Amino acid sequence: MRSGILSGRLRPGERLPATRDFAQTHRIARGTVVNAFAQLVSEGYLVSRVGSGTCVATDLPDDLLQAPRAKTAATTPAASEAARPARLSRYASRLAPFPPGTRGRVRAFRANIPAFDRFPTTTWARLAGRRLAMATRSLLDAGEPAGYRPLRAAVAHYLDRFRGVRCESEQVVIVSGVQSAIDLAARVLLDPGDRVAMEDPGYVGARLVFRALGAKIVPMPVDHEGASVPSARVANVRLCYVTPANQFPTCVSMSLPRRLALLDWARRSGAYLLEDDYDSEFRYSGRPLPALQGLGDGRQVLFCGSFSKVMFPSLRVGYLVVPPELVDAFSAAHSITQRHVSIIEQAVLADFIEAGHFARHIRRMRMLYAERLDVLTRAVREHLSGRLEITNVEAGLQTVGWLAPGLDARLIVAAAREREVELVAIGRYGGGTATAQGLHMGFAAVEPAELRRGVTELARILDKPRAHTRRTS
Ligand SMILES: Cc1ncc(COP(=O)(O)O)c(C=O)c1O
Repeated sequence: MRSGILSGRLRPGERLPATRDFAQTHRIARGTVVNAFAQLVSEGYLVSRVGSGTCVATDLPDDLLQAPRAKTAATTPAASEAARPARLSRYASRLAPFPPGTRGRVRAFRANIPAFDRFPTTTWARLAGRRLAMATRSLLDAGEPAGYRPLRAAVAHYLDRFRGVRCESEQVVIVSGVQSAIDLAARVLLDPGDRVAMEDPGYVGARLVFRALGAKIVPMPVDHEGASVPSARVANVRLCYVTPANQFPTCVSMSLPRRLALLDWARRSGAYLLEDDYDSEFRYSGRPLPALQGLGDGRQVLFCGSFSKVMFPSLRVGYLVVPPELVDAFSAAHSITQRHVSIIEQAVLADFIEAGHFARHIRRMRMLYAERLDVLTRAVREHLSGRLEITNVEAGLQTVGWLAPGLDARLIVAAAREREVELVAIGRYGGGTATAQGLHMGFAAVEPAELRRGVTELARILDKPRAHTRRTS
Protein backbone atom coordinates (compact mmCIF):
# COMPACT_ATOMS: atom_id res chain seq x y z
CA MET A 1 0.00 0.00 0.00
CA ARG A 2 2.84 2.36 0.83
CA SER A 3 4.42 1.92 -2.60
CA GLY A 4 0.96 2.16 -4.19
CA ILE A 5 0.51 5.59 -2.58
CA LEU A 6 4.00 6.79 -3.48
CA SER A 7 3.72 5.63 -7.09
CA GLY A 8 0.29 7.29 -7.47
CA ARG A 9 -1.68 4.09 -7.94
CA LEU A 10 -3.67 5.01 -4.86
CA ARG A 11 -4.69 8.65 -5.17
CA PRO A 12 -4.82 11.25 -2.39
CA GLY A 13 -8.22 11.16 -0.72
CA GLU A 14 -9.09 7.73 -2.19
CA ARG A 15 -11.17 5.69 0.16
CA LEU A 16 -9.88 2.24 1.08
CA PRO A 17 -12.06 -0.84 1.48
CA ALA A 18 -13.15 -1.85 4.97
CA THR A 19 -10.52 -3.97 6.73
CA ARG A 20 -12.83 -6.99 6.73
CA ASP A 21 -13.32 -6.83 2.91
CA PHE A 22 -9.63 -6.14 2.36
CA ALA A 23 -8.70 -9.21 4.42
CA GLN A 24 -11.12 -11.40 2.50
CA THR A 25 -9.98 -10.17 -0.92
CA HIS A 26 -6.33 -10.76 -0.13
CA ARG A 27 -6.87 -13.85 2.04
CA ILE A 28 -5.02 -12.54 5.02
CA ALA A 29 -6.02 -12.26 8.65
CA ARG A 30 -8.07 -9.22 9.49
CA GLY A 31 -5.80 -8.43 12.44
CA THR A 32 -2.88 -8.07 10.01
CA VAL A 33 -4.86 -5.58 7.91
CA VAL A 34 -5.90 -3.60 11.00
CA ASN A 35 -2.26 -3.42 12.14
CA ALA A 36 -1.03 -2.36 8.69
CA PHE A 37 -3.66 0.38 8.43
CA ALA A 38 -2.81 1.62 11.93
CA GLN A 39 0.89 1.70 11.05
CA LEU A 40 0.23 3.66 7.84
CA VAL A 41 -2.02 6.08 9.71
CA SER A 42 0.77 6.67 12.26
CA GLU A 43 3.26 7.25 9.43
CA GLY A 44 0.90 9.79 7.80
CA TYR A 45 0.07 7.87 4.59
CA LEU A 46 -3.53 7.22 5.60
CA VAL A 47 -6.13 9.11 7.60
CA SER A 48 -8.88 7.42 9.48
CA ARG A 49 -12.12 9.19 10.44
CA VAL A 50 -14.88 7.74 12.55
CA GLY A 51 -17.83 7.11 10.31
CA SER A 52 -16.04 7.69 6.99
CA GLY A 53 -13.52 4.86 6.99
CA THR A 54 -9.87 5.09 5.98
CA CYS A 55 -8.58 7.25 3.09
CA VAL A 56 -5.23 8.04 1.50
CA ALA A 57 -3.87 11.25 3.05
CA THR A 58 -4.40 14.37 0.95
CA ASP A 59 -1.50 16.41 2.30
CA LEU A 60 1.41 14.36 0.89
CA PRO A 61 3.64 16.65 -1.21
CA ASP A 62 3.10 16.31 -4.99
CA ASP A 63 6.78 15.98 -5.89
CA LEU A 64 7.19 13.12 -3.42
CA LEU A 65 4.27 11.32 -5.07
CA GLN A 66 5.44 11.88 -8.60
CA ALA A 67 9.17 11.20 -8.26
CA PRO A 68 9.01 7.40 -8.20
CA ARG A 69 6.57 7.38 -11.18
CA ALA A 70 9.20 8.93 -13.41
CA LYS A 71 11.40 5.90 -12.91
CA THR A 72 10.33 3.12 -15.21
CA ALA A 73 12.11 0.09 -13.80
CA ALA A 74 11.85 0.96 -10.11
CA THR A 75 8.52 -0.09 -8.69
CA THR A 76 9.26 0.24 -4.99
CA PRO A 77 10.93 3.06 -3.06
CA ALA A 78 13.72 0.69 -2.04
CA ALA A 79 14.49 -0.22 -5.67
CA SER A 80 14.53 3.42 -6.76
CA GLU A 81 16.91 4.28 -3.89
CA ALA A 82 19.27 1.52 -5.01
CA ALA A 83 19.30 2.80 -8.58
CA ARG A 84 20.38 6.33 -7.59
CA PRO A 85 24.19 6.79 -7.43
CA ALA A 86 25.33 7.61 -3.89
CA ARG A 87 26.26 11.26 -3.45
CA LEU A 88 29.29 11.17 -1.20
CA SER A 89 31.24 13.87 0.60
CA ARG A 90 34.79 14.53 -0.55
CA TYR A 91 35.96 12.78 2.60
CA ALA A 92 33.92 9.65 1.81
CA SER A 93 35.04 9.57 -1.82
CA ARG A 94 38.67 9.45 -0.63
CA LEU A 95 37.97 6.66 1.87
CA ALA A 96 39.45 3.20 1.50
CA PRO A 97 38.56 0.57 4.09
CA PHE A 98 41.08 -0.81 6.55
CA PRO A 99 42.48 -4.03 5.01
CA PRO A 100 40.69 -7.01 6.57
CA GLY A 101 42.86 -9.15 8.83
CA THR A 102 43.13 -12.93 8.54
CA ARG A 103 41.10 -14.86 11.09
CA GLY A 104 40.66 -18.49 12.04
CA ARG A 105 43.37 -20.98 12.92
CA VAL A 106 46.67 -19.20 13.54
CA ARG A 107 49.14 -20.19 10.85
CA ALA A 108 52.79 -19.32 10.51
CA PHE A 109 53.56 -16.30 10.34
CA ARG A 110 50.46 -14.35 11.25
CA ALA A 111 51.51 -10.86 12.32
CA ASN A 112 49.95 -8.11 14.43
CA ILE A 113 48.23 -10.35 16.95
CA PRO A 114 49.21 -11.41 20.46
CA ALA A 115 48.75 -14.94 21.80
CA PHE A 116 45.32 -14.02 23.06
CA ASP A 117 44.48 -17.65 23.77
CA ARG A 118 46.84 -17.14 26.76
CA PHE A 119 44.99 -14.13 28.13
CA PRO A 120 43.81 -14.75 31.73
CA THR A 121 40.10 -14.58 30.93
CA THR A 122 39.17 -16.08 34.30
CA THR A 123 40.79 -13.16 36.11
CA TRP A 124 39.15 -10.71 33.72
CA ALA A 125 35.75 -12.38 34.25
CA ARG A 126 36.19 -12.19 38.04
CA LEU A 127 37.02 -8.48 37.92
CA ALA A 128 34.20 -7.78 35.45
CA GLY A 129 31.74 -9.78 37.57
CA ARG A 130 32.71 -7.88 40.69
CA ARG A 131 32.34 -4.54 38.93
CA LEU A 132 28.90 -5.43 37.60
CA ALA A 133 27.72 -6.89 40.88
CA MET A 134 28.39 -3.58 42.64
CA ALA A 135 27.68 -1.32 39.67
CA THR A 136 27.10 2.19 40.94
CA ARG A 137 25.01 4.84 39.20
CA SER A 138 28.18 6.54 37.95
CA LEU A 139 29.38 3.32 36.34
CA LEU A 140 26.13 2.93 34.38
CA ASP A 141 25.74 6.59 33.52
CA ALA A 142 27.48 8.24 30.53
CA GLY A 143 31.07 9.22 31.28
CA GLU A 144 33.55 11.94 30.40
CA PRO A 145 34.80 11.99 26.78
CA ALA A 146 38.43 11.81 27.89
CA GLY A 147 37.74 8.60 29.77
CA TYR A 148 37.28 7.01 33.19
CA ARG A 149 39.46 8.94 35.60
CA PRO A 150 40.98 5.99 37.52
CA LEU A 151 42.02 4.41 34.18
CA ARG A 152 43.56 7.69 32.98
CA ALA A 153 45.53 7.86 36.25
CA ALA A 154 46.62 4.20 35.92
CA VAL A 155 47.76 4.80 32.32
CA ALA A 156 49.70 7.97 33.26
CA HIS A 157 51.45 6.06 36.06
CA TYR A 158 52.28 3.09 33.80
CA LEU A 159 53.62 5.32 31.01
CA ASP A 160 55.75 7.30 33.45
CA ARG A 161 57.26 4.14 34.94
CA PHE A 162 57.78 2.03 31.86
CA ARG A 163 57.87 4.36 28.85
CA GLY A 164 59.38 7.56 30.18
CA VAL A 165 56.29 9.57 29.23
CA ARG A 166 55.90 12.74 31.28
CA CYS A 167 52.28 13.68 31.72
CA GLU A 168 49.47 14.39 34.16
CA SER A 169 46.47 12.07 34.05
CA GLU A 170 44.39 15.03 32.70
CA GLN A 171 46.44 14.79 29.48
CA VAL A 172 45.40 11.17 28.87
CA VAL A 173 42.43 10.52 26.55
CA ILE A 174 41.11 6.95 26.49
CA VAL A 175 40.29 5.99 22.91
CA SER A 176 39.29 2.79 21.15
CA GLY A 177 42.79 1.90 19.99
CA VAL A 178 45.64 3.61 18.19
CA GLN A 179 43.63 3.74 14.98
CA SER A 180 41.12 5.98 16.69
CA ALA A 181 43.93 8.06 18.25
CA ILE A 182 45.38 8.71 14.78
CA ASP A 183 41.96 9.62 13.39
CA LEU A 184 41.29 12.00 16.28
CA ALA A 185 44.71 13.65 15.96
CA ALA A 186 44.22 14.10 12.22
CA ARG A 187 40.77 15.67 12.68
CA VAL A 188 41.99 18.06 15.35
CA LEU A 189 45.31 19.06 13.77
CA LEU A 190 44.87 18.87 9.99
CA ASP A 191 42.95 20.61 7.24
CA PRO A 192 42.54 19.24 3.70
CA GLY A 193 45.69 19.98 1.69
CA ASP A 194 47.96 20.08 4.78
CA ARG A 195 51.20 18.13 4.70
CA VAL A 196 51.72 15.08 6.92
CA ALA A 197 55.09 13.36 7.12
CA MET A 198 55.07 9.62 7.74
CA GLU A 199 57.46 6.70 7.54
CA ASP A 200 57.87 4.87 4.25
CA PRO A 201 57.34 1.94 4.55
CA GLY A 202 54.83 2.69 7.26
CA TYR A 203 51.55 1.84 8.91
CA VAL A 204 48.79 1.55 6.32
CA GLY A 205 46.05 2.48 8.80
CA ALA A 206 47.64 5.91 9.35
CA ARG A 207 48.07 6.53 5.63
CA LEU A 208 44.38 5.74 5.03
CA VAL A 209 43.30 8.26 7.69
CA PHE A 210 45.53 11.05 6.32
CA ARG A 211 44.47 10.40 2.72
CA ALA A 212 40.77 10.38 3.59
CA LEU A 213 41.17 13.78 5.22
CA GLY A 214 42.75 15.11 2.06
CA ALA A 215 46.22 15.61 3.55
CA LYS A 216 49.35 15.44 1.38
CA ILE A 217 51.75 12.74 2.51
CA VAL A 218 55.47 13.48 2.70
CA PRO A 219 57.38 10.16 2.86
CA MET A 220 60.13 9.69 5.45
CA PRO A 221 62.42 6.87 4.21
CA VAL A 222 63.50 4.42 6.92
CA ASP A 223 67.09 3.21 7.45
CA HIS A 224 68.92 1.33 10.23
CA GLU A 225 68.44 4.30 12.61
CA GLY A 226 64.70 4.57 11.99
CA ALA A 227 62.74 7.18 10.08
CA SER A 228 64.70 9.97 8.46
CA VAL A 229 64.04 13.55 9.54
CA PRO A 230 62.00 15.51 6.98
CA SER A 231 64.09 17.93 4.96
CA ALA A 232 64.04 21.55 6.10
CA ARG A 233 63.14 22.38 2.49
CA VAL A 234 59.73 20.70 2.82
CA ALA A 235 57.77 23.54 4.38
CA ASN A 236 54.42 23.53 6.16
CA VAL A 237 54.39 20.02 7.53
CA ARG A 238 51.67 20.16 10.19
CA LEU A 239 51.95 16.65 11.59
CA CYS A 240 54.60 13.93 11.58
CA TYR A 241 53.55 10.35 12.40
CA VAL A 242 56.30 8.00 13.62
CA THR A 243 56.77 4.62 15.36
CA PRO A 244 60.14 5.19 17.08
CA ALA A 245 60.02 2.33 19.62
CA ASN A 246 59.60 -0.36 17.01
CA GLN A 247 59.25 0.99 13.50
CA PHE A 248 56.33 -0.53 11.65
CA PRO A 249 57.00 -2.64 9.61
CA THR A 250 60.84 -2.81 9.65
CA CYS A 251 61.07 -3.27 13.47
CA VAL A 252 64.00 -0.81 13.74
CA SER A 253 64.23 1.13 17.00
CA MET A 254 64.98 4.81 16.35
CA SER A 255 68.47 5.82 17.49
CA LEU A 256 68.91 8.54 20.11
CA PRO A 257 70.62 11.00 17.70
CA ARG A 258 67.72 10.55 15.26
CA ARG A 259 65.18 11.11 18.04
CA LEU A 260 66.89 14.32 19.09
CA ALA A 261 67.15 15.49 15.48
CA LEU A 262 63.46 14.80 14.92
CA LEU A 263 62.49 16.76 18.04
CA ASP A 264 64.72 19.62 16.93
CA TRP A 265 63.10 19.61 13.48
CA ALA A 266 59.62 19.64 15.08
CA ARG A 267 60.59 22.58 17.30
CA ARG A 268 61.89 24.56 14.34
CA SER A 269 59.13 23.71 11.91
CA GLY A 270 56.23 23.98 14.37
CA ALA A 271 54.95 20.51 13.38
CA TYR A 272 53.39 18.19 15.94
CA LEU A 273 54.88 14.70 16.27
CA LEU A 274 52.43 11.83 16.70
CA GLU A 275 54.39 9.05 18.40
CA ASP A 276 52.77 5.63 17.97
CA ASP A 277 54.23 3.39 20.66
CA TYR A 278 52.64 0.31 19.07
CA ASP A 279 54.30 -2.99 19.87
CA SER A 280 56.88 -1.65 22.34
CA GLU A 281 55.78 -3.55 25.46
CA PHE A 282 57.53 -6.82 24.72
CA ARG A 283 61.27 -6.21 24.75
CA TYR A 284 63.73 -9.04 24.26
CA SER A 285 67.04 -7.22 24.54
CA GLY A 286 68.44 -4.12 26.20
CA ARG A 287 66.55 -1.31 27.84
CA PRO A 288 64.00 0.57 25.79
CA LEU A 289 64.85 4.10 24.83
CA PRO A 290 62.48 6.47 26.57
CA ALA A 291 59.62 7.86 24.51
CA LEU A 292 60.16 10.91 22.30
CA GLN A 293 57.41 12.50 24.36
CA GLY A 294 59.59 12.38 27.50
CA LEU A 295 62.67 13.69 25.70
CA GLY A 296 61.02 16.88 24.50
CA ASP A 297 59.51 19.74 26.45
CA GLY A 298 56.07 18.11 26.29
CA ARG A 299 54.63 20.61 23.79
CA GLN A 300 55.39 18.97 20.43
CA VAL A 301 54.66 15.31 20.94
CA LEU A 302 51.37 13.44 21.11
CA PHE A 303 51.86 9.89 22.30
CA CYS A 304 49.55 6.92 21.69
CA GLY A 305 49.45 3.22 22.46
CA SER A 306 47.07 0.28 22.53
CA PHE A 307 45.88 -2.37 24.98
CA SER A 308 44.44 -4.45 22.16
CA LYS A 309 47.80 -5.84 21.12
CA VAL A 310 48.97 -6.52 24.66
CA MET A 311 45.79 -8.17 25.90
CA PHE A 312 43.31 -9.22 23.19
CA PRO A 313 42.26 -7.57 19.90
CA SER A 314 38.51 -7.31 20.54
CA LEU A 315 39.16 -5.10 23.59
CA ARG A 316 39.61 -1.98 21.42
CA VAL A 317 40.97 0.29 24.14
CA GLY A 318 43.98 2.55 23.75
CA TYR A 319 45.28 5.87 25.01
CA LEU A 320 46.41 9.18 23.62
CA VAL A 321 48.52 11.64 25.61
CA VAL A 322 48.26 15.21 24.37
CA PRO A 323 50.01 18.45 25.39
CA PRO A 324 48.00 20.37 28.03
CA GLU A 325 46.83 23.09 25.63
CA LEU A 326 45.25 20.48 23.31
CA VAL A 327 43.24 18.62 25.97
CA ASP A 328 40.00 20.59 25.45
CA ALA A 329 40.08 20.29 21.66
CA PHE A 330 40.65 16.53 21.83
CA SER A 331 37.93 16.04 24.44
CA ALA A 332 35.49 18.02 22.30
CA ALA A 333 36.38 16.03 19.17
CA HIS A 334 36.01 12.75 21.06
CA SER A 335 32.68 13.87 22.52
CA ILE A 336 31.13 14.27 19.05
CA THR A 337 32.73 11.25 17.40
CA GLN A 338 32.73 8.40 19.92
CA ARG A 339 31.37 10.14 23.05
CA HIS A 340 33.58 7.82 25.09
CA VAL A 341 34.82 4.24 25.32
CA SER A 342 32.55 1.90 27.36
CA ILE A 343 32.94 2.94 31.01
CA ILE A 344 32.45 -0.58 32.39
CA GLU A 345 35.23 -1.88 30.14
CA GLN A 346 37.47 0.98 31.27
CA ALA A 347 36.71 0.29 34.93
CA VAL A 348 37.55 -3.41 34.61
CA LEU A 349 40.77 -2.52 32.80
CA ALA A 350 41.70 -0.03 35.55
CA ASP A 351 41.16 -2.79 38.15
CA PHE A 352 43.23 -5.21 36.05
CA ILE A 353 46.14 -2.75 35.95
CA GLU A 354 45.90 -1.65 39.59
CA ALA A 355 45.85 -5.23 40.89
CA GLY A 356 49.11 -5.94 39.02
CA HIS A 357 47.59 -8.36 36.48
CA PHE A 358 48.60 -6.20 33.53
CA ALA A 359 52.30 -6.11 34.47
CA ARG A 360 52.19 -9.85 35.24
CA HIS A 361 50.58 -10.63 31.88
CA ILE A 362 53.24 -8.62 30.05
CA ARG A 363 56.00 -10.47 31.93
CA ARG A 364 54.47 -13.89 31.13
CA MET A 365 53.88 -13.07 27.50
CA ARG A 366 57.38 -11.64 27.10
CA MET A 367 58.80 -15.03 28.19
CA LEU A 368 56.46 -16.94 25.87
CA TYR A 369 57.20 -14.69 22.89
CA ALA A 370 60.97 -14.83 23.56
CA GLU A 371 60.77 -18.65 23.41
CA ARG A 372 58.83 -18.50 20.14
CA LEU A 373 61.26 -16.00 18.69
CA ASP A 374 64.08 -18.34 19.61
CA VAL A 375 62.33 -21.25 17.83
CA LEU A 376 61.90 -19.08 14.75
CA THR A 377 65.47 -17.77 14.60
CA ARG A 378 66.97 -21.24 15.15
CA ALA A 379 64.79 -22.77 12.44
CA VAL A 380 65.68 -19.95 10.03
CA ARG A 381 69.40 -20.40 10.78
CA GLU A 382 69.10 -24.13 10.19
CA HIS A 383 66.98 -24.15 7.01
CA LEU A 384 67.30 -20.74 5.38
CA SER A 385 70.84 -19.66 6.06
CA GLY A 386 72.25 -17.41 3.33
CA ARG A 387 68.81 -16.84 1.84
CA LEU A 388 66.83 -15.20 4.60
CA GLU A 389 68.16 -13.35 7.61
CA ILE A 390 66.47 -12.25 10.78
CA THR A 391 68.36 -9.37 12.33
CA ASN A 392 68.40 -8.48 16.01
CA VAL A 393 64.82 -8.46 17.22
CA GLU A 394 64.57 -5.96 20.05
CA ALA A 395 60.83 -5.91 20.64
CA GLY A 396 57.37 -6.72 19.36
CA LEU A 397 55.08 -9.43 18.08
CA GLN A 398 56.76 -9.78 14.69
CA THR A 399 59.99 -9.34 12.84
CA VAL A 400 61.36 -9.03 9.33
CA GLY A 401 63.12 -11.74 7.37
CA TRP A 402 65.43 -9.93 4.94
CA LEU A 403 65.94 -11.78 1.68
CA ALA A 404 69.23 -12.34 -0.11
CA PRO A 405 69.74 -10.26 -3.28
CA GLY A 406 67.75 -11.47 -6.27
CA LEU A 407 64.90 -12.97 -4.24
CA ASP A 408 61.53 -11.36 -4.79
CA ALA A 409 59.39 -10.98 -1.67
CA ARG A 410 56.08 -10.71 -3.56
CA LEU A 411 56.62 -13.93 -5.48
CA ILE A 412 57.58 -15.73 -2.28
CA VAL A 413 54.47 -14.42 -0.50
CA ALA A 414 52.27 -15.76 -3.31
CA ALA A 415 53.96 -19.18 -3.27
CA ALA A 416 53.73 -19.30 0.56
CA ARG A 417 50.00 -18.56 0.48
CA GLU A 418 49.44 -21.75 -1.48
CA ARG A 419 51.14 -23.63 1.34
CA GLU A 420 49.05 -21.91 4.03
CA VAL A 421 51.94 -19.78 5.20
CA GLU A 422 51.04 -16.14 5.85
CA LEU A 423 53.61 -13.50 4.96
CA VAL A 424 53.51 -9.88 3.88
CA ALA A 425 56.12 -8.30 1.61
CA ILE A 426 57.55 -5.20 3.29
CA GLY A 427 57.07 -3.31 0.02
CA ARG A 428 53.29 -3.64 0.54
CA TYR A 429 53.54 -1.09 3.34
CA GLY A 430 55.35 1.40 1.21
CA GLY A 431 54.25 4.50 -0.57
CA GLY A 432 57.04 3.93 -3.09
CA THR A 433 60.43 4.69 -1.60
CA ALA A 434 61.02 1.26 0.01
CA THR A 435 62.88 -1.13 -2.24
CA ALA A 436 64.53 -3.64 0.13
CA GLN A 437 63.13 -7.15 -0.09
CA GLY A 438 61.81 -8.27 3.26
CA LEU A 439 59.06 -10.49 4.64
CA HIS A 440 56.97 -9.45 7.63
CA MET A 441 56.85 -12.48 9.93
CA GLY A 442 54.68 -12.73 13.03
CA PHE A 443 55.79 -15.18 15.72
CA ALA A 444 54.07 -14.19 19.00
CA ALA A 445 50.72 -15.86 18.36
CA VAL A 446 52.09 -18.89 16.51
CA GLU A 447 52.74 -22.25 18.22
CA PRO A 448 56.38 -23.49 17.93
CA ALA A 449 55.49 -26.51 15.76
CA GLU A 450 53.64 -24.23 13.35
CA LEU A 451 56.62 -21.84 13.24
CA ARG A 452 58.88 -24.76 12.29
CA ARG A 453 56.40 -25.90 9.62
CA GLY A 454 56.36 -22.39 8.18
CA VAL A 455 60.15 -22.27 7.94
CA THR A 456 60.30 -25.72 6.33
CA GLU A 457 57.70 -24.66 3.75
CA LEU A 458 59.68 -21.48 3.04
CA ALA A 459 62.82 -23.54 2.54
CA ARG A 460 60.93 -25.73 0.03
CA ILE A 461 59.83 -22.64 -1.87
CA LEU A 462 63.35 -21.20 -1.94
CA ASP A 463 64.69 -24.56 -3.14
CA LYS A 464 62.76 -23.98 -6.37
CA PRO A 465 64.48 -20.93 -7.84
CA ARG A 466 61.96 -20.29 -10.62
CA ALA A 467 59.16 -19.70 -8.15
CA HIS A 468 60.61 -16.61 -6.56
CA THR A 469 63.62 -15.15 -8.35
CA ARG A 470 63.35 -11.84 -10.14
CA ARG A 471 64.41 -11.97 -13.73
CA THR A 472 67.46 -9.74 -14.12
CA SER A 473 68.97 -8.66 -17.40
C1 LIG B 1 51.94 0.62 13.77
C2 LIG B 1 50.52 0.32 14.18
N1 LIG B 1 49.87 1.22 14.91
C3 LIG B 1 48.60 0.99 15.30
C4 LIG B 1 47.93 -0.17 14.97
C5 LIG B 1 46.49 -0.34 15.37
O1 LIG B 1 46.34 -0.33 16.73
P1 LIG B 1 44.91 -0.51 17.36
O2 LIG B 1 44.51 -1.94 17.17
O3 LIG B 1 45.07 -0.15 18.79
O4 LIG B 1 43.97 0.42 16.66
C6 LIG B 1 48.57 -1.13 14.22
C7 LIG B 1 47.87 -2.38 13.84
O5 LIG B 1 48.35 -3.24 13.19
C8 LIG B 1 49.90 -0.88 13.81
O6 LIG B 1 50.56 -1.78 13.07
